Amino acid sequence: MTNGREDSAPEVLGIIGAGRVGRVLARLAVAAGYRVLVAGSGRPARIAATIGAVASGAEVAETAVVAWEADLVVLALPLPAHRGLPADELRGKLVIDAMNYWWEADGLRPEYADLRTSTSEIVQRSLPGARVVKAFNHMGYRDLDEEARPAGTPGRKAIAVAGDDAEDVRTVMRLVDDLGFDPVYAGPLGEGIRLEPGAEAFGADVDATELRAMLERFPTSQRGIMVARARGRRRQ
Ligand SMILES: NC(=O)c1ccc[n+]([C@@H]2O[C@H](COP(=O)([O-])OP(=O)(O)OC[C@H]3O[C@@H](n4cnc5c(N)ncnc54)[C@H](OP(=O)(O)O)[C@@H]3O)[C@@H](O)[C@H]2O)c1
Repeated sequence: MTNGREDSAPEVLGIIGAGRVGRVLARLAVAAGYRVLVAGSGRPARIAATIGAVASGAEVAETAVVAWEADLVVLALPLPAHRGLPADELRGKLVIDAMNYWWEADGLRPEYADLRTSTSEIVQRSLPGARVVKAFNHMGYRDLDEEARPAGTPGRKAIAVAGDDAEDVRTVMRLVDDLGFDPVYAGPLGEGIRLEPGAEAFGADVDATELRAMLERFPTSQRGIMVARARGRRRQ
């Protein structure tokens, strides 16, 4: 699990959100050879202590610095907080949306429950000029922490990736692989809804074959039928 750049400067992975998911991703990315920059909402000194305990080698910086310096930026913060992200610094960046609308924590927000739109599309609209790809949202942080394996390991678990640009999707799939999981393409960003809470794939800690099967079953699931109706489409 390396990023294949041992001979040059390591690729810089930024993580905004230093909570359960952010810390696990930081640990996996450091282990994979990335230079990792992490931002949280608190003072960098406090965050540095918690990050240092789990991901020795990760650096802590202000959000705008992480957004500006990183090649890839993972959003691992509560979904409503995307509104406060530094859009200027993220312009032109590949941004990986690992967030979910979790109403118990985030409060009731009808815009995130609108089946016509995936939450990643909402994030994309709030970050003009950034290229948003969805990944790392459906697997629980404990599974992320425990299930990373080298490529080729039998039964290796899979992470789905949804995005509109083929090159960006390839880049994120490579990151998924580097961090220890088989990447599975889930379709364009609007189809990221197949990975959201309420879909079968949400919470999935399964291999690539099973994850693909879950994604393919989505249109015939109750939620898939509701999504198709809301989007004015016949069942696929
Ligand atoms: N938990 C899971 O198993 C899991 C799995 C996959 C994806 N996710 C998704 O990942 C996101 C984070 O989940 P989590 O479980 O890691 O939550 P968490 O443990 O509560 O961590 C969220 C982190 O984001 C920070 N934060 C809040 N507002 C911020 C801002 N404006 N700028 C920078 N950092 C900010 C918080 O810092 P403070 O505490 O200092 O406010 C906290 O460290 C959620 O959208 C969740 O749905 C969760």
